[in-house]
Amino acid sequence: MSLPRAILKARIKRRIFNGHPWIYDNEIEISPECENGSLVDLFTNSGQFVGRGYYNAHSTIRIRLLTRKYENIDEGFFARKIQRAFMLRNRYAETSAYRLIFGESDGLPGLIVDRYSNYFVIQISTLGMSKFREDIVSTLVKLFNPKGIYEKSEGTFLKLEGINPINEWLYGSGPMLIPFKMNEISFLSDLKGQKTGFFLDQRYNAKLLSKFASEKKVLDVFSYTGNFALHLLKAGADQATLLDQSERALEVAKEIAKINGVSDKIYTVQGNAFDFLRSLNLGDYDLIVVDPPALVKNSKSTEKAIAAYKELNLRALKALKEGILATSSCTQAIREDLWLNTIHRAFNDCKKVGLQLFSGSQPFDHPVSLAIFETNYLKFRAFSVRKITDI
Ligand SMILES: C[S@@+](CC[C@H](N)C(=O)[O-])C[C@H]1O[C@@H](n2cnc3c(N)ncnc32)[C@H](O)[C@@H]1O
Repeated sequence: MSLPRAILKARIKRRIFNGHPWIYDNEIEISPECENGSLVDLFTNSGQFVGRGYYNAHSTIRIRLLTRKYENIDEGFFARKIQRAFMLRNRYAETSAYRLIFGESDGLPGLIVDRYSNYFVIQISTLGMSKFREDIVSTLVKLFNPKGIYEKSEGTFLKLEGINPINEWLYGSGPMLIPFKMNEISFLSDLKGQKTGFFLDQRYNAKLLSKFASEKKVLDVFSYTGNFALHLLKAGADQATLLDQSERALEVAKEIAKINGVSDKIYTVQGNAFDFLRSLNLGDYDLIVVDPPALVKNSKSTEKAIAAYKELNLRALKALKEGILATSSCTQAIREDLWLNTIHRAFNDCKKVGLQLFSGSQPFDHPVSLAIFETNYLKFRAFSVRKITDI
């Protein structure tokens, strides 16, 4: 099948040849003649075929490559890619809930598919990928025979791409709170909540942290539906306070606590994390989790986000006597060394020292591709906190 052609400039970065699938507006010499969202073939200036992907003139990422072969992008193509992603997950997954497709890392830019037991939740973030919605759904149906496939595509960036938000069952149906088990705990993925309903990326960090749960008084800041708190309570924490600005997330957290028989051990506070942390007294809690949302999108304007990380961690540290700080960042635009340096400065400011208990990142079903640094976003550290004078 012949497709409209795009030609790269003569001097382009090795990045593209080393496996990065994005072609920026300033890297294209001759643009293809086609509608936004169409498939195109990409060639070098000297006529060498680079790959096949989709085009959008409204995005600074003009082309996202789907393949580097001359192959049809059809249901068979999606079946091969999804099957390969499944082989990796199926072999190693310890749970029936995992990320089946992690966009660029799985060779499918603009697509996320999370699996919660027999239900699939998909997120499409680009116009080009939205053209293949039917192929994606029919592939999932054929491979997994699911009870339901829900699309939860939302966010301001959709408008820039030229697509509408979608929140609906594309196949079958199911509850808006999907039950699933993870680390032997019962959870609910909230289809009216955030992302695909649950943050599957923190499950290893929450599990490892639960090793330190025994008899702790826990504060789970930015709790969402209580992933960390539930892991800690099930592992022996005395009680947990969940703090989030979302009333609905806290309601769902109470429901999850009920299913797990720990309703009497959780307290919820709806409010602003910065204000709440500022109001704490020394020793109010023994273990504080700080897991804020992504604080900035662009690596050119990270100053405010760095200040926010400093403030959040400093407030949490000030409130800890001899306790544990578990802190995280999912801001892709902030590199790990810069984030860690910020935490270090927070320790210095309150004259405390952190002994690292463990460090964490993304689980294998959110694989970081070395060729695509943008796939690396999650940072996590747990520290035992001491006063400098008590080392
Ligand atoms: C990355 S999610 C937390 C995920 C959660 N720790 C988990 O493992 O499931 C960030 C959460 O912060 C909440 N949030 C965002 N800004 C907030 C603020 N200023 N104060 C309190 N909560 C906030 C959001 O509602 C969201 O639930």
